[in-house]
Amino acid sequence: MRNSAIEVRPINGYIGAEIGNIDLAEPMSEQTLVDVRQALAEHGVIFFRDQNLTAEQHDAFARRFGTPTDINFVKTVDGYANMSVVSKEEDELKNIGGGWHADQTYYEKPPFGAVLVARELPSFGGDTLFSSMAAAYDALSDGLKETLDGLKAVHSNEKLLRSATRLNTAGATPQYATHPVVIRHPVTGRKSLFVNRAYTLRFDGWSEEDSEPLLKHLFIHGQRPEFQVRFKWSPGTVGFWDNIQVWHYAANDYQGQRRVMHRVAVQGEALIPA
Ligand code: SIN
Repeated sequence: MRNSAIEVRPINGYIGAEIGNIDLAEPMSEQTLVDVRQALAEHGVIFFRDQNLTAEQHDAFARRFGTPTDINFVKTVDGYANMSVVSKEEDELKNIGGGWHADQTYYEKPPFGAVLVARELPSFGGDTLFSSMAAAYDALSDGLKETLDGLKAVHSNEKLLRSATRLNTAGATPQYATHPVVIRHPVTGRKSLFVNRAYTLRFDGWSEEDSEPLLKHLFIHGQRPEFQVRFKWSPGTVGFWDNIQVWHYAANDYQGQRRVMHRVAVQGEALIPA
């Protein structure tokens, strides 16, 4: 079995690492699994280049980290009910995931992470941006940290269901969940902001009107370039993000070209308050 000692190459000082000396198509030892989980927790998003996984190997790799989530609103890969097709055709104008978000935070237990495989890429553009909410939290002033540490927020897919997106949401009813605004990461123990522009409606016990200025401030703060990595995919590359400490954004800058990614998200646990 190869991949006994993975190489972890950080991309910058806040977020992202490329992982080398590993073939994800091969069975993974328990030690490698621990090392990959640790790298993901420390860097927020990790990338594995030149992998060329089959759908079966993609599914098997994701399942080493937990049970795949059910898929809503998008097509799935034939034979893989838990593998979504995140695609944009030449004649489509909108993409999927083209705004800052974390996945399905309107679930009581939001996904722990997602494994994305680049299948077909445009000749330019189509990068994905990731932003570290642990770095965003660290950079807040002590007074604001203290205020946020005691708050909870209500998350919902209400806005998503109301808006005209590429998703097939016909007949869906909104879901709601309340989470701490600052969570503690189960692996690193680090604090992280847990709100996002797509799904956080308001602070618990506050009206939407009262919540808006502070939430807006956090959404803008969380987009600071220093907290981000912008990743350029190549065919076969695998990306794995930690959904409870990272936002992501699929850049829609390749009109007229096709882009196809396959994604398996993994179920998470209830979040730990800071
Ligand atoms: C997403 O999962 O939101 C889309 C990511 C991507 O297509 O780069």
